[in-house]
Amino acid sequence: MEAAEVPAVATERRFAQRLRERLEEERLLDGRYRLQRAPGGRVALPVLEEKLSQLCLPPEMPCELLRIQEPVPSRAARRRTPARRLRDELRRLLGAGWSAELERDVPHAWQRHGDMVLLSEDSFRAAPWDRLGSALWQAVASALGARRVARRGRVMPDGMRTPSVTLLLGQHGWVEHVDNGIRYTFDVTKCMFSPGNITEKLRVASLPCSGEVLVDLYAGIGYFTLPFLVHAGAAFVHACEWNSHAVEALHRSLVLNGVRDRCRIHSGDSRQLRDVADRVNLGLIPSSEEGWPVACRVLKKDTGGVLHIHHNVEAGPAPAQLPAERGSAGAASSAGEARRPTEPGGEDTPGARLRPEWRSWAEGTAARIRGLLAELHGRPWRTSVLHVEAVKSYAPHVHHLVLDLECRPAPPV
Ligand SMILES: C[S@@+](CC[C@H](N)C(=O)[O-])C[C@H]1O[C@@H](n2cnc3c(N)ncnc32)[C@H](O)[C@@H]1O
Repeated sequence: MEAAEVPAVATERRFAQRLRERLEEERLLDGRYRLQRAPGGRVALPVLEEKLSQLCLPPEMPCELLRIQEPVPSRAARRRTPARRLRDELRRLLGAGWSAELERDVPHAWQRHGDMVLLSEDSFRAAPWDRLGSALWQAVASALGARRVARRGRVMPDGMRTPSVTLLLGQHGWVEHVDNGIRYTFDVTKCMFSPGNITEKLRVASLPCSGEVLVDLYAGIGYFTLPFLVHAGAAFVHACEWNSHAVEALHRSLVLNGVRDRCRIHSGDSRQLRDVADRVNLGLIPSSEEGWPVACRVLKKDTGGVLHIHHNVEAGPAPAQLPAERGSAGAASSAGEARRPTEPGGEDTPGARLRPEWRSWAEGTAARIRGLLAELHGRPWRTSVLHVEAVKSYAPHVHHLVLDLECRPAPPV
């Protein structure tokens, strides 16, 4: 967001060059904006608002202080990257107080949600920033074209992934984030948005779920519920979520995307759910294991369905000849024999990229789920590993994986 108006000194055209040199010498010229025409055929030279008190109009030329509405950014300002603009703006704000220590403290990256920038936890921590008060956050917003500024703290280890975000500029924390054509709204001070899940959100959006009933066991603000409804064609989603702030955000986003009538939110209590789902999403890391019995219970008992099981899995460094981190399982049936992958992701060489640790986690999980289903229904079930997706690297040698596991009641012998 550029300023709506800036102060400027207007003078006759013939004095413009002299005035410019003078303002530059005194470091008063605001290089972010172009010179502009002023009434009476004059030229207006933008000057820095924060240095107006130092401005003395030169007596040897006719000058007037006025304000330019909607100033036009200079060519140099338009060429600068946002990070550079931010640094330049702060440098100007601090004047002689600028130091290498402060420069290191200026962030190079941030998240943007609509008109809000969300800064990382470690930005602007040096003591001198505090003295600037709200002027600092105004400058950050202006340099980055935002209206609100917030800073992230640690995510609380409270099971609800509550972020400790502080609002630094603005009246409220509700933002709207558009991603793959879906509108997500949430309060940044109450809920978090995980940009790292983008590949999984896209994959989910492309799954063929037409006519299916889905249970999303850890719905959050709707990261997966919404793509399942909006793009994947799910007929109905039961969204389970126990954090009331996330429930509120999910409700609003369902309305925004026109799919409220195809979703029931189970806030905190999913116990009455059983025998309803063609598909169950278990999007909880580091492990969704506590939800496996619930997933087995909600799966349709006569036809079964597919589970998407998220888990963080540790594996040694990838062997050098493996081309990529993205995993794609050569599918394996419950009997363990290899068979062709049945998912679009299966065009990767079957099994070749699947690290041994990932494979053994997928097979172990499949065996556990088979056991749970057999115990629950008193008859054998079959499982097939359809696909293993490596969503992202979570920590050194730890990957966030998603196992797509098909589960069907075994036909009577
Ligand atoms: C990691 S966030 C989830 C979001 C989304 N699935 C993702 O992966 O980005 C996990 C969500 O599950 C919720 N949650 C955790 N355990 C839960 C439970 N037993 N019942 C309902 N919600 C739960 C948390 O409140 C949180 O909003």
